[in-house]
Order: sequence, then structure tokens, then C-alpha cells
Amino acid sequence: MNHAVDPGLMQAAEASGSTPSADLGAYWMPFTANRQFKKAPRLLARAAGMHYWDVHGRQILDAVAGLWCVNAGHARPRIVQAIQQQLAQMDFCPPFQMAHPSAFELAARLARLAPAGLGKVFFTNSGSEAVETALKMALAYHRVRGEGTRTRLLGRERGYHGVNFGGISVGGMVGNRKTFGLAVAGVDHLRHTHDPARNAFSVGQPAHGAEFADDLERLVALHDASNIAALIVEPVAGSTGVLLPPVGYLQRLRELCTLHGILLIFDEVITGFGRTGQPFAAQTFGVVPDMITCAKGLTNGCVPMGAVIVKDEIHDAFMTGPEQAIEFAHGYTYSGHPLACAAGLGTLDTYAEEGLLTRGSELGAQFAQAVHSLRGEPHVIDVRNIGLVGGIELAPLPGQTAQRAFQVFLDCYERGLLIRTTGDTIALSPPLIIESGQIDQIVETLRAAIRRAA
Ligand SMILES: Cc1ncc(COP(=O)(O)O)c(C=O)c1O
Repeated sequence: MNHAVDPGLMQAAEASGSTPSADLGAYWMPFTANRQFKKAPRLLARAAGMHYWDVHGRQILDAVAGLWCVNAGHARPRIVQAIQQQLAQMDFCPPFQMAHPSAFELAARLARLAPAGLGKVFFTNSGSEAVETALKMALAYHRVRGEGTRTRLLGRERGYHGVNFGGISVGGMVGNRKTFGLAVAGVDHLRHTHDPARNAFSVGQPAHGAEFADDLERLVALHDASNIAALIVEPVAGSTGVLLPPVGYLQRLRELCTLHGILLIFDEVITGFGRTGQPFAAQTFGVVPDMITCAKGLTNGCVPMGAVIVKDEIHDAFMTGPEQAIEFAHGYTYSGHPLACAAGLGTLDTYAEEGLLTRGSELGAQFAQAVHSLRGEPHVIDVRNIGLVGGIELAPLPGQTAQRAFQVFLDCYERGLLIRTTGDTIALSPPLIIESGQIDQIVETLRAAIRRAA
């Protein structure tokens, strides 16, 4: 297919103010092979429900909820109206020493969705900022309680916690260390839980590997618990290839963190808001962390927003000292932005009215069967799933990691399907409004593309 942008469409779009200029030079794109992209750009112009339309008017089925965020589907009327009304009423409200009612309302509604006991909410603008906020909160919490030696932060190999310095430090991605060096000092990592020799093609949670949690004992023996502030993990690692926690693993992590006084942070930027079949993965797996970081589905991707949801006792520990003192010297100009709060409230209304936060449980079995039907296709070396998340791992082309999956991505796009790839894993995370027939459409388009890539 010719990917050159149709000049007439671009002109019309520019006149309506909906797309940038056809000159693609100035925009330095994030996490993108810029030169390759600009030779054959994939430009989207419109979205509604389960679909995008590109600038040529071609319809594309969205199998990844944009980027794991448009959980209620695109252009949902309640969310659109809420944002429009808020913008007309009040564009901005300073968040320091001032506030507006909908920030309180959204915080209260989020706390009600979260596991019992996590009753306080701190707003940020992204998942990365939610992670930085949670890590700083953990350090400050121990200090305010007189345990200021607890400064070490723990993460896990193959973890992804956004792009800021704290996040890349606790994250476990080799590329970040290679490119950006040491980042934050005083960090260590658990081993990851991916164990294809025992667990390949597990349907749902892998049966083997709860004992990987005992790696925390190794770090405690090495650093001493009195020096460790927090452990951050994704309940399901998304960006490094859809890695599920083995049965019993998160429970064991919880027990060990409690035993050693280490705060347990679940990074639910991807797993939050119904992705695994419950509002949060903490509920799907029955494990209550001390903090949850979230973003993406919080506003259905419509306005940037993140949040840290924390246990009441963590918040309460800060509420000591003189009343006029700022208890936690942290925040962003756009924390609790009125447009983001409006989007968040419209989003939570939409989720509630349509029962979307548990739809992943209802459709989970059908989705599992559909993605696991790809077992046996050429080069498919593993299939992983939970709720409405699927990971299909392909054997890499010799010496060209990620290229086979990227070929499949391009092929699917040509045929009107948007998927995502990370390394050689294809990740599926469709909007939670997906219909049965669309699950089949995704998997059959993918099957044909995988066969062609063989
Ligand atoms: C688990 C996790 N944490 C943090 C982030 C970073 O979020 P953002 O891109 O909104 O900064 C992501 C993004 O995908 C994520 O998956």
C-alpha cells in the first residue's frame, strides 16, 4: 500500500485544524523509528468505538485500546461532554493551596474502586509521574516515621515503570542502563518470573514459579531490611512482553514485604481499570499492595492523568506536625487538572454504566481460547493471557530481534488492524467494549499475518 499522505485529505484536515502539517520533519517522535516512520507514515485522523480511521479514510480495528488506555472505546459521549463542559466552565485551577470540587470527587470515586484500605489519592499527569511520586512517598513515609535509613528501592528484572529517572532505575530494562547509565543509585532488583521451560502456553496464570518471590529474601539478606523502603512490581508486566505472575507469587511477595516492613507498590498503569477482569489486578489476584500507581484508563486516555492510590495509614503518618506545614512537598502544576478530573469522572461513569470493569472476566474465557488457537502457527513459541490481555511471542529472526513481530504489525496495519509489539511479543489489549466477532477478527487477521511472516 502507498502510505504517502493524500494531499487533499491533509488540506481538508488542516483546514479543520485536526492534523498537523504534511511536513513531518520537525516532530521528533517518541519510542519510534523516526526515519523509517517518516518514509511511510501511519497517520490517524479519527476514532470512534472500536475503530480508528487513518487520513485516507481507511477503517482500522483497535486491538490495543490506543496504547493500553482507551478501555471504554473511543469518543464516548459522556467523556466528551464532561471535558467540553469543564473547559467552558473553568480551564485551570491552581493545585497548590487551592482546589476545585471535582478533584475531591474523582479521588473519592477512585478510592471506592480500589481494594479496601487504599483510601487516599495523589494526582499526577502520567504513569511515569505516578511512579516517581510513589517512590518519593515511600522514602518520605519511612522518614516521617523515624525509619529514615530505609532508602533502598527495589524493582524487578524486565519491569517497566515509565521513563523518568526513578522509573528507569527500578525498572529492569537493559536498554535503559545501556543508554542512560546509572540513573538513581541505591536500587536493586528481584529476578523476573518468566520461565518458558516450565510455563510456555499456560492459560492464565502459570502454575510454576511462586518461589521466585523468595528472591526478596536474598536482597534482604544482602542489604538488610532496615535499609529497604519499597518494592515496586507490575502485577502483570506489560511493556516487556505480557508476563503473568505465577500462582501464589504475588501472595508470597506480600507476605515477605509485610514481614520485613517493606512497602509493596503495584504499578497498575496497564492493569488498572478492568484490563484483567476486575477494576485493579490487585483484586483479580487477591493481593492488597500498600500503593497502586495508575494512569491510562483512568481518563480513558482522553486527557493525561495518573494517580497514586495509597493506604490510609501511609497518608495518616504524614498528617502530624504543625497544621500549617506542607506535609508532602511534592506535586505538579497540572496535578488534578480540571479537564483531567472531568475526563476521569466521565470515564468512571461510562465504566459503571456499562459494567466494563468486569467485562474482561466475562469475555476472558473466549479471549483465552481465541489467542491460544494461535499455538502451532509458524514461529509462535508462547501464548499468554489474562482478562482482555494477550501476548503472542514469536521466535526472533536470527540476529534481528523484534523484526519478525514488527513485520506482523505492519502487515496487520495494512489489513486494518492495530496491534502492538514489544520485542518479538505481540501484545493485544482491546477496548473492553469489544464484541465476540471482533475477537475473532483480531485473531484471524493476526493468524494470516503470522503465516505470511513465516
Ligand atoms: C507499568 C507501567 N508503568 C508506567 C508506565 C508509564 O506511563 P506513561 O507513559 O503514562 O508515563 C507505563 C506505560 O506504559 C507502564 O506500562
